[in-house]
Amino acid sequence: MANDFVFSFPRYLSSKKTVDDRSLNRGVIDTFRSELNCVNGWFPRILEVGSGVGSMIDRLVDWDVIRTGHYFALDSMDENVIEARKRILEWAFTRGFQTEPNRDGSISVRSQGGIDLRIEFVLDDVFRFIDSRGEASDQFDVLLSNAFLDLIDMRTQLSSIIGLLKPGGLYYFTINFDGATVFEPETDPELDDRIERLYHRTMDERITNGLKSGDSRAGRHLFNHLGDNGCSVLEAGSSDWVVAPSNGQYRYDEAYFLRFILETVGEALKNDPDVTSTELGRWVQTRRQQIDRGELFYMAHQLDYVGRKLHPPS
Ligand SMILES: C[S@@+](CC[C@H](N)C(=O)[O-])C[C@H]1O[C@@H](n2cnc3c(N)ncnc32)[C@H](O)[C@@H]1O
Repeated sequence: MANDFVFSFPRYLSSKKTVDDRSLNRGVIDTFRSELNCVNGWFPRILEVGSGVGSMIDRLVDWDVIRTGHYFALDSMDENVIEARKRILEWAFTRGFQTEPNRDGSISVRSQGGIDLRIEFVLDDVFRFIDSRGEASDQFDVLLSNAFLDLIDMRTQLSSIIGLLKPGGLYYFTINFDGATVFEPETDPELDDRIERLYHRTMDERITNGLKSGDSRAGRHLFNHLGDNGCSVLEAGSSDWVVAPSNGQYRYDEAYFLRFILETVGEALKNDPDVTSTELGRWVQTRRQQIDRGELFYMAHQLDYVGRKLHPPS
């Protein structure tokens, strides 16, 4: 497959922000906002795992969900953490917020209107971070993840992530992939279906660092995993990605977002015995042309959840 596409994960995450902005479930985020604001003058310790380029930080401030707190943005990829710091400083500048670097490397962001955040960018693997904290690990008031929990083995790993939350603490887990990847218009219906099924199979069979790491139906399975890990669900709802062209154009950097997804599918299946390289090459090339012509419609089904870690029975 001749291909001039340049994979940049930070650019992909930045291009994803406008897609996530449209997709995040409004009922779930409204519940998150009202639960978080229930105590005035609070300076919560907030941890986001797999925070990427930090898009959730500016989103939550811009959407008046978070105003104060110590926000730990943790990600294992150094180029994401570098980009996150840069993005947040640029965003604070454009909003007219004051920023101040602290000795520990964190940034304080303040505004006349009452924004008061200490943002700490943490470069670490979440499971190493958990191990290194030992007994002190359950000290966050709020725990966030966006497009992250579908990358782990929730049956064995969600409990240690929930362990980071104080009893009674609030979680907001969003953009959890759930079993539908749609590209329209159809090319060859049998091949379209097969590629979707095989792509989902790569998620179910993915191994990272020797461990199972993924679930193509993570969104629906998360409901029971939360209950099994002592969490309530206060609100849940779908947060499907929908990228549709308008007059043959995609918005913002969303043509790049689509190419990144498409090339990721192509890479994931290039050694799959159940699709030939001719079939895959033809399919990817057709989809590339649909993006170039502003014809491709893309949708992925996802779910959002908000709730609390319950206090252990006394
Ligand atoms: C799909 S991206 C989502 C990023 C961001 N939350 C967003 O929605 O834009 C998943 C992120 O999780 C990070 N990640 C994956 N495994 C991780 C781990 N074990 N510990 C910390 N971060 C991890 C990746 O580096 C990546 O930035």
